[in-house]
Amino acid sequence: MLQVSDLSFHYDPHIPILNNLSFYISEGEIVGLLGKNGVGKTTTLKLILGLLPIEKGTITLENYILDTHPFQYKKIINYVSDHHDLYNNLTGNEYLNFIADMYEVPATIRKQIYIPLINEFQVEKYLGQPMKKLSHGTKQKIAIISSLVNDPILWVLDEPMTGLDVEAVQILKKIIKSRTNSKKSVLFSTHILEMCESLCDRIIIMQSGTIKKAITFKDNPLEIPLERIYSEVINDDALDKNSSTE
Ligand SMILES: Nc1ncnc2c1ncn2[C@@H]1O[C@H](COP(=O)(O)OP(=O)(O)OP(=O)(O)O)[C@@H](O)[C@H]1O
Ligand SMILES: [Mg+2]
Repeated sequence: MLQVSDLSFHYDPHIPILNNLSFYISEGEIVGLLGKNGVGKTTTLKLILGLLPIEKGTITLENYILDTHPFQYKKIINYVSDHHDLYNNLTGNEYLNFIADMYEVPATIRKQIYIPLINEFQVEKYLGQPMKKLSHGTKQKIAIISSLVNDPILWVLDEPMTGLDVEAVQILKKIIKSRTNSKKSVLFSTHILEMCESLCDRIIIMQSGTIKKAITFKDNPLEIPLERIYSEVINDDALDKNSSTE
């Protein structure tokens, strides 16, 4: 479904951020991306979204290679960023329609997708206000709603729980799980291990610009707490890069 192969990237010359990073996501799979602050999770997600130029490596979603079929590729993916400052002058309604227009989603279909989500997150009363007046959590809810307008085959979320209230976290977890009913996949970055334990089929742990370890949970419950596994992986320099328990 998603295949990331030999991805390398740097922002500043001579300071590599990603170094031959490779991983895959299967159809209907929920994958958590973990790793210390600054390891390159957001950078990896932005590259997968086509928001940063690929320097080396290839990214393929379904049969579309991002570099060669960017339009078809970007139509079937969507993203919740870790900040929402770009569209601050739009009202919530304008923002939702702007995103739907970008994905060329007809009016009837955008309503079918948006209305149940607006009701679930209880944000209708905020949608007439400019985004800049809304709290972080409310903006996050609107960003989550907008990112489902194209019913993405791969839904990518960057630290999606940040700033959400307890009820919204439960709703988001339910939505993430329900994506797999129609064999859609989800990739999210997080520092919250509980979120991985309760949602993920697999986690991928990044270190030194590449994948340190991938661990599959599905049909294979963990016998020791994820917190312990995570710190052992992060602190074990002897582990080979790209190693996997699969
Ligand atoms: N626009 C930029 N210009 C230069 N360096 C950048 C830029 N954006 C990020 N970096 C650097 O790239 C590295 C990876 O950053 P990134 O945001 O991908 O990390 P992250 O794993 O998402 O961290 P966090 O857990 O804090 O969100 C960091 O060293 C960061 O300082
Ligand atoms: Mg980040």
